[in-house]
Amino acid sequence: MHTWNLPAGADRAEIYTELLATAQALVDGEPDLMANLANLAACLKQLPGVSWAGFYRRVGDDLVLGPFQGKLACTRIAPGKGVCGTAAARREALVVPDVEAFPGHIACDADSRSEVVVPIVRGERVLGVIDLDSDRLANFDDRDAEHLTRLAALVAGLDWPA
Ligand code: SME
Repeated sequence: MHTWNLPAGADRAEIYTELLATAQALVDGEPDLMANLANLAACLKQLPGVSWAGFYRRVGDDLVLGPFQGKLACTRIAPGKGVCGTAAARREALVVPDVEAFPGHIACDADSRSEVVVPIVRGERVLGVIDLDSDRLANFDDRDAEHLTRLAALVAGLDWPA
């Protein structure tokens, strides 16, 4: 059984280094995708300022809600819609410092102020996205996107359905 608590007083680089190591250890011992995504969501929810953390999986053309921690979220996101659909369509991470300034942002939680979405990509295929929300403005920047892109690479290596 692994545990992970946010290291007190650690800076962002240290936090993500620990998160990545914990994520690797978690998935090394477990082949089940949903169990792994559920535990990874629990780790991500501990990041500073995060009010919602979870995964959307690409099912057909849509993004469908996967394991998460936080308030109720939209179940299904159509292609190219919202921050999640846009990041998936562009196959690139999106940092949104103020969600109200992002055209087409899908408001699941009225408290959400900023967001980062990172696609989970294997070759040409987008498997899903990692989505983090914060109730603080500008909680995320490009460094978060960079670290989360490493996590997304790890997640892309899990046992996704064909
Ligand atoms: N805000 C997202 C929708 C998902 S929720 O934030 C959990 C979007 O615009 O795609």
